[in-house]
Amino acid sequence: MSRTCLAVILAAGDSTRMKSSMSKVLHPVAGRPMIAHVMAAVQAADIEDVALVVGRDAENVTKAASIDGLSVTSFLQTERLGTGHAVLSAKEAIARGYDEILVAYGDVPLITPETLTSARKALGEGNDVVVIGFHTERPTGYGRLLVENGQLIAIREEKDASDEERKITWCNSGLMVINGAKALELLSHIGNANAKGEYYLTDVVEIVRSKGGRAVAVDASEAELSGCNNRAELAAIEKLWQERRRHDIMLSGVSMIAPETVFLSHDTVIGQDVLIEPNVVFGPGVTVESGAVIHSFSHLEGAHVAKGATVGPYARLRPGAHLGEGSKVGNFCEVKKAEIGAGAKVNHLSYIGDAFVGADTNIGAGTITCNYDGVNKHETRIGANAFIGSNSALVAPVTIGDGALIASGSVITEDVPDDALAFGRARQEMKPDRAKAIRERNLAIKAMKKSKP
Ligand code: UD1
Ligand code: CA
Repeated sequence: MSRTCLAVILAAGDSTRMKSSMSKVLHPVAGRPMIAHVMAAVQAADIEDVALVVGRDAENVTKAASIDGLSVTSFLQTERLGTGHAVLSAKEAIARGYDEILVAYGDVPLITPETLTSARKALGEGNDVVVIGFHTERPTGYGRLLVENGQLIAIREEKDASDEERKITWCNSGLMVINGAKALELLSHIGNANAKGEYYLTDVVEIVRSKGGRAVAVDASEAELSGCNNRAELAAIEKLWQERRRHDIMLSGVSMIAPETVFLSHDTVIGQDVLIEPNVVFGPGVTVESGAVIHSFSHLEGAHVAKGATVGPYARLRPGAHLGEGSKVGNFCEVKKAEIGAGAKVNHLSYIGDAFVGADTNIGAGTITCNYDGVNKHETRIGANAFIGSNSALVAPVTIGDGALIASGSVITEDVPDDALAFGRARQEMKPDRAKAIRERNLAIKAMKKSKP
């Protein structure tokens, strides 16, 4: 039988050093609020119940934390009296009775389900408190883990530590798992007689030991436990997240020529044998099927790229862009809310928005779907095997049939039936020798200007 666990997520911090109008846990990493990353890890560690401790921006933080499949209850911590006090704000949830209480921070978004699971496992091995620790060359500011004979005997906060204790490089991440049956009793003994006058959650280690219980620390990587206090740390976390995800994606069969220049979102899905050239940005909601090629300097967001399609260089796929199998969207093209049929080509300098392009149709350079009348958006439908001549403006709403041919430079305002040829441009006029006459006149004017001082 699996053990029940409540995750208590602390997110009531003031975020002062972020210098932001919103709570720091709402700042995105890989296009998703930090807090949602923590929630996803909690969920992947098979935990279903979450008590979220919130302070400022409570409503937005709760909303961002409420990911599918998790039951989240928020508790307002009105005064910020320390981590021990924060956990006790969720007393009501803890009192429901769980086998385990996991405490994690909303501003530690790189935490993995594996680490959470290993801490839970250690608790199941006869321990009452399991603290997740990390080794660092820069321990200043962190609580130090005091260990004796494999047992964690105390966590000493920087301000309360002796010079000897400050030399310890094994530190408290702040994340821990506590025996659910004893949690409330242990937490109720936390006082605030320390250098900061705060209720330290870390005191549970000494408290549990004084009652004959056992505490241990498990180790995780410093990178994974990085917390976010300011924008520079936010950028460092983003960098670590990107490195981790690129690595995973490459190992799943995706080639990247310069991975350090490719930026992914939390939900980017890329199939096998896709090639991603340097300097590509994936915004949220992108899926790329196998064998596709994303050429350099392309920006994709809310788009789907089917098998063997090619994108870019310098293409922009906006939300609702669906590229069919083997289709091509080339340089300086923008596609928004449009379906590009299998084998269709939009190769150069085009805007295709609110449109449907049939299979194997060729869209000539510079074609624009005029989808907006200043108030409403309208649709352009183009059939299969059509040919749209370069520099055409298709004024929506408009429908162009299968196999139709649009003369280049046309402004198309009326529907074009299947297999029809449409011209929508001024007829060409010819004036023999007129160019020569104009040139000679202009040269004469220039000569006259020069002769006058
Ligand atoms: C805490 C730990 C320290 C550990 C460090 C890791 C304690 C006493 N110290 O220190 O051992 O090395 O984290 O980063 O636990 N929070 C609330 N309400 C509060 C106080 C804090 O929600 O009243 C939240 C904060 O938003 C933050 C987290 O708890 O996400 C940690 O609080 P913080 O003040 O940053 O703790 P540290 O002093 O850094
Ligand atoms: Ca901190």
